[in-house]
Amino acid sequence: QGVKWDVAQAERGGFDHFMQKEIYEQPQAIRDTLGGRIDENGNVDIRAELTFSDRNVCDIDRVHIVACGTASYAGMVGKGLLEQLVRVPVEWDIASEYRYKGPIFTENTLVIVVSQSGETADTLAALREAQRNGARVLAITNVVGSSIAREADDVLYTWAGPEIAVASTKAYTSQLIAFYLIALHFARVRGALPQEQLRALAVQLRQLPEQAERLLAQAGKLREMARKIARHAHVFYIGRGLDYAVSLEGSLKLKEISYIHSEAYAAGELKHGTLALIEEGTPVIALATQRALFGKTLSNVKEVKARGAYVIGLRTEGNGELDSSVDDLLEIPDVHPLLTPPLSVVLLQLLAYYTAVLRGNDVDKPRNLAKSVTVE
Ligand code: G6P
Repeated sequence: QGVKWDVAQAERGGFDHFMQKEIYEQPQAIRDTLGGRIDENGNVDIRAELTFSDRNVCDIDRVHIVACGTASYAGMVGKGLLEQLVRVPVEWDIASEYRYKGPIFTENTLVIVVSQSGETADTLAALREAQRNGARVLAITNVVGSSIAREADDVLYTWAGPEIAVASTKAYTSQLIAFYLIALHFARVRGALPQEQLRALAVQLRQLPEQAERLLAQAGKLREMARKIARHAHVFYIGRGLDYAVSLEGSLKLKEISYIHSEAYAAGELKHGTLALIEEGTPVIALATQRALFGKTLSNVKEVKARGAYVIGLRTEGNGELDSSVDDLLEIPDVHPLLTPPLSVVLLQLLAYYTAVLRGNDVDKPRNLAKSVTVE
């Protein structure tokens, strides 16, 4: 019989799809993004890579975060991090909207554009619009020498390695890491929070690769859950705060590769319309990792459960309070609430992946979508 030599499979490092391979590369991608950016004292220091003086960092009075697709959802987490750690006002926009809305710039607005490819037409146009208005642009990108990398005033590379699958996975997590680095660096330089607090976060950042690694072991469980949602026409994701931002990304992952209609809602908005869509058996993925918001999210979970939803709850380890209100459970390590996004998303990516596989879709090349959108 002999072993069949499959070139394509060899290219995928033995994985069935590039997306799966890239999901599994995330622990390394996180390591590579952190690499050398935390000094021997445990402080995040990215001075060597930026043209910013400490004075410039202190002067920033507003931040605009602009991107498309998955990168925009990484940016939404970034907004939360900068607001909470640096206490600077942040506006978040989708690049195709930003360009045409007449963005308002202050004396010291910093514009952060996020783009895996560095070639997305709308993001590049947003960068140019910002520069035309005299703003300084910092790019978070994965591709050295890309248009966005060349035109931005400063670049923080994500070093996630090439991403082949159209649905972005490791690029997203590495963009999140880039935002942690920026937020912790800015917070330290500006004295926004006590040094010990920032160092404690940096210590936890370093534990993320190993924690993400352990989450991958839940793949079998996610495949089982995928079986339960694969035949549905609609799936909803709910969460509050950073969980809401991650819900948006989880929902995008599912719709782009499984073709199931899916939407993410800020859990508190349920009552204002979405609840009407919940029927017997409707899958709802409820993210409940944010300690301070847990009680509120729990009551939203109970609301959908009471309408017959099939609820998958995602919580941190050791918080059993959610368990009796959900049908299935996912858990991530009990990390600082600001650090849950890169862990939660791994589970949501696997859920989307297995759902798409079960539906027999072309996971790496979903219909109608392109890896990089270079037209407006
Ligand atoms: C396309 C891709 C997405 C990506 C988006 C932004 O839609 O399919 O995966 O998130 O473009 O791409 P960028 O390269 O700018 O991050």
